[in-house]
Amino acid sequence: MNRRTFLRTALSGCAAVAAPQFSLAKTTDGFLELTAAKGQVRLYGANGGQSDLWLYNGRLPGPEIRVKRGERVRVRFKNELDEPSSVHWHGIRIDNSMDGVAGMTQPPVQPGEVFDYEFLTPDAGTYWYHAHNMSWNQVPRGLSGPLIIEDDETLFSQDTDITLVLSDWRLNENGILDTASFGARHDFSHAGRLGNCLTINGTSLPDIPLKKGHWHRVRLINSSASRILDLAPERFGAKLIGLDGQTFNAPRDMPGTVQLAPAQRMDLVLRPEATGTIPFEMMTGRPFTFANFQVKDAESEGPSLRLPPVNTLPEPDLQGALEMPLLMEGGAMGGMRSLLRDRTEDELRQMMQDGLFWTFNGTPGMQDAPMFSAKRGETVVLESRNDTSFAHAMHVHGHHFRLLERNGEPLEHQDWRDTFTTDPGETVKIAFVADNPGKWLIHCHMLGHAASGMMTWFEVS
Ligand code: C2O
Ligand code: CU
Repeated sequence: MNRRTFLRTALSGCAAVAAPQFSLAKTTDGFLELTAAKGQVRLYGANGGQSDLWLYNGRLPGPEIRVKRGERVRVRFKNELDEPSSVHWHGIRIDNSMDGVAGMTQPPVQPGEVFDYEFLTPDAGTYWYHAHNMSWNQVPRGLSGPLIIEDDETLFSQDTDITLVLSDWRLNENGILDTASFGARHDFSHAGRLGNCLTINGTSLPDIPLKKGHWHRVRLINSSASRILDLAPERFGAKLIGLDGQTFNAPRDMPGTVQLAPAQRMDLVLRPEATGTIPFEMMTGRPFTFANFQVKDAESEGPSLRLPPVNTLPEPDLQGALEMPLLMEGGAMGGMRSLLRDRTEDELRQMMQDGLFWTFNGTPGMQDAPMFSAKRGETVVLESRNDTSFAHAMHVHGHHFRLLERNGEPLEHQDWRDTFTTDPGETVKIAFVADNPGKWLIHCHMLGHAASGMMTWFEVS
């Protein structure tokens, strides 16, 4: 299944995109309840079958958790699945003990057990949460949801602040989730688990209502296991105002396509001038429509555009930074051969038998020792080199980094990000201040890649 083989949805009337939920049922002690359990959803339109999914609070995506910047988030996670789980708050500069990495920052939450997450949110913006135990299995079964940290001031009304979670699903010939292929070695060693159906907020080909003459903020979250979405915001008149939760000083015109890789977020603003239908497409060589904006007349003109203030993040100091290489090797299509440099044929065969296909700096998967240790406050410059035949979406936990260079060329906007993409043969340089003590993961967010070797960690002391 390649980028072009999406199923066309045969829908007569399209469903309207589900309105985000603004609060969770609070218990008396101020905790939001988030329960993971099995459930069913029709992914492929009203006529498709019910897919067996794993859901938070019975919803797809999980309920939108919305709090103000600086507020204390309290979530009581209850695991009603048959296997251990945990919740990771992706992109939040969080206290290490609340990062949700099962087996590293907390014990896995066993079936029937409860774990209380409690943390402060330093930055406003668009984030998300997802399962972080056997993520390759739990996330593409439905365990993710949006986490929106609001600015101090409310700049967009509820109906002009729109969260869209984009997810890629692999459906079988009956139009239901293909569960037989979870964990397939072929997916892990190639481009990851790719699907053939896209949903937005759990619905395929939804209508998204917009108000004529009003500015909208559209928050896109890619919760897919492996699918990189090439979007073309300019084709529907949108400008970019932020990436991975961090907003810019000014809106940016984005001619051509902009990648939204797994785990990445993109904040857009748009103000439709006329009523009617605007297709929302992904580019797969030719445009593929996966939703429609429906612009309705509004009684009054909306307020003028005001952008949220930018977050203040610690600025990397490149002088005397800790410089770390991150060599990515392995995978199918010729990548495994380079691994023979550090091991014998037999060792390589054993590694593959153990389900490991990828290495960072020659080593597959998590080790007892960190890839590096940084002193608190030290700047880390990570230079990654993709010596594989596949693209990767690399995520650093607990920190936002500046994207400095691609293939030795300084980038025009050295954006703050928490997940960067790298194409085969590329070198990408990032920098961040390691200012948050604890153990933090660095991994590919193509979740099958992470499970088969592309996962390491660093320590901040
Ligand atoms: Cu979005 Cu290690 O996670
Ligand atoms: Cu990868």
